[in-house]
Amino acid sequence: MPPATELETPALNADGPHDGDVIVTSNLWKTYEMGDQQVHALRGVNLRIQHNEYVAIMGPSGSGKSTLMNLIGCLDSPTQGQYWLNGHNVSDLNDDELARIRNKEIGFVFQTFNLLARATSLHNVELPLIYNGTPAAERIARAKAVLESVNLGTRMMHKPNELSGGQRQRVAIARALVNHPSIILADEPTGNLDSKTGDEIMALFDELHAKGNTIVLVTHEPDIAEYAHRVVTIRDGVIASDHPSPRHAK
Ligand SMILES: Nc1ncnc2c1ncn2[C@@H]1O[C@H](COP(=O)(O)OP(=O)(O)O)[C@@H](O)[C@H]1O
Ligand SMILES: [Mg+2]
Repeated sequence: MPPATELETPALNADGPHDGDVIVTSNLWKTYEMGDQQVHALRGVNLRIQHNEYVAIMGPSGSGKSTLMNLIGCLDSPTQGQYWLNGHNVSDLNDDELARIRNKEIGFVFQTFNLLARATSLHNVELPLIYNGTPAAERIARAKAVLESVNLGTRMMHKPNELSGGQRQRVAIARALVNHPSIILADEPTGNLDSKTGDEIMALFDELHAKGNTIVLVTHEPDIAEYAHRVVTIRDGVIASDHPSPRHAK
């Protein structure tokens, strides 16, 4: 028998969330079954992100970034390990419970914007409030206010194909914000934008961070990761490094 210490090494973060923690994962594993093969996409991720942090997740293709984003975003469940989101243990929830938590706690921003093509900016931003049963008058008032806050007050009745790429992404950001989520999860948000428009979107994220939002950003691009205050690098399904971004290192 190996000595007891080898068997009983406590998993990092196993004690769960402390004050101010928004995301805590402990020994998070995700294994995909491919026929009789197993792909271990995540192999014990221990991550702790506090309120109002601005974190970039980087790593080579196939390292597990999207898998981690899907778990953090409550789009999928881990094979093993614990995940607490804003104090709730969400590791063992069923799909319906995950959907409810996701709508309340998470604002998603995607590379491809993911707007409803036939709907106006206003309607796109109202959608999360329709799903959670907010009355129409309040819904419209909140959607208008958040569109104004991203400088789209004059574009409320436009549809996505009547907007520029940068404007579409600002509609998507407004939609992400309208429920006052605990975190904004952005997956390559500038991937479909030219660099000037990308910088404008990153300036908007800076503003949202300054207003107290918690932001987690997945990106391949070092220039984009530099906007974040903390950079977590993932390699082969584990965290390989975690440090302040050079621009924000004290
Ligand atoms: N749905 C899936 N089924 C099987 N294997 C998957 C699935 N999704 C991802 N993988 C595998 O898991 C690993 C991590 O993938 P992913 O999280 O997409 O990495 P990244 O986003 O960093 O490129 C890769 O080896 C990938 O092939
Ligand atoms: Mg990916």
